[in-house]
Amino acid sequence: MKTNIGSANLPWKSAWITGAGRGIGAELSRLLCRHGVTVYGSARSTEQLAQLQQELASSSGAFIPVPVDIGDLDRLQQQFKRWDQQGIMPELVVLNAGTHDAFLASDFSAQRCKALLDINLQGTINCLDPVLYRYLHRDGENNIAKRLTVEQEVSGSRGHIAVVASVAGYRGLPTAAAYGAGKAALINLCEALRLDLQGSGVKLQLINPGFVRTPLTEQNDFVMPALMEADEAARRIVKGLLSQRFEIVFPRRFVYLLKLFRLLPYGCYFSLIKRITGG
Ligand SMILES: NC(=O)c1ccc[n+]([C@@H]2O[C@H](COP(=O)([O-])OP(=O)(O)OC[C@H]3O[C@@H](n4cnc5c(N)ncnc54)[C@H](OP(=O)(O)O)[C@@H]3O)[C@@H](O)[C@H]2O)c1
Repeated sequence: MKTNIGSANLPWKSAWITGAGRGIGAELSRLLCRHGVTVYGSARSTEQLAQLQQELASSSGAFIPVPVDIGDLDRLQQQFKRWDQQGIMPELVVLNAGTHDAFLASDFSAQRCKALLDINLQGTINCLDPVLYRYLHRDGENNIAKRLTVEQEVSGSRGHIAVVASVAGYRGLPTAAAYGAGKAALINLCEALRLDLQGSGVKLQLINPGFVRTPLTEQNDFVMPALMEADEAARRIVKGLLSQRFEIVFPRRFVYLLKLFRLLPYGCYFSLIKRITGG
């Protein structure tokens, strides 16, 4: 059954979505644009962003391509300075850009790990830097020091950030040493920031998807349990963003099972995963 987010206008006028060129980020951009949001969409490939802009030209919102490599902190800072000059600071930020490189221990290399972590972990951190600075120090003050009403506090009145990690960050999985390590680090980073941001009016949420059909998972040569379509994933994300939950997960039953796996002692966990993945 399709998730229904209703036809009402969403609470954000503008959003910055990284990894907007295809997959989950593109579907999320489509959904937000069709609900009247101005989406600034980032990725490295300008063609995919331009195509999406054309496709969404007649939507009630707007899609504005902002090509940038999230691995390049200097370019990101320059982009934010340009936005400062234009008086732009998106109210919602979804840090979704990421990639995968599956390899066995026999192919382990520092270079491959670094290439993946530079995007999935450091790239996300690079994006958080200018965003948190602007949300927390808007008007030249440290907003953490200000008192907020309960409503302002929970609504993310000073900004709303969501970070896309993965259930692969819950526990180690075969061929995912670098991917899982980056996603586990993102989960921990968000938990810590969530605590630090309490009382600041900046709402921070963590998105942990299971398998979603996208160009990224097209390369997988195994059966993906509970595979979800990307447009449904986008609806689940928006529904979650409208809630006060810290962690947004889907498909729920699959993710809850993986959460249970987190409680297993190593001996049970390793033999169970070996059996499930046929290793
Ligand atoms: N699909 C799943 O089953 C699944 C499950 C759990 C978590 N996730 C996570 O969800 C996110 C989106 O995944 P997806 O499946 O939609 O992947 P995808 O189809 O491969 O799309 C990834 C997007 O990220 C962009 N991107 C990659 N590297 C970038 C960089 N250095 N700078 C800027 N943009 C970059 C890509 O554009 P360019 O290559 O043009 O830059 C593309 O637009 C990822 O973080 C992924 O780890 C996915």
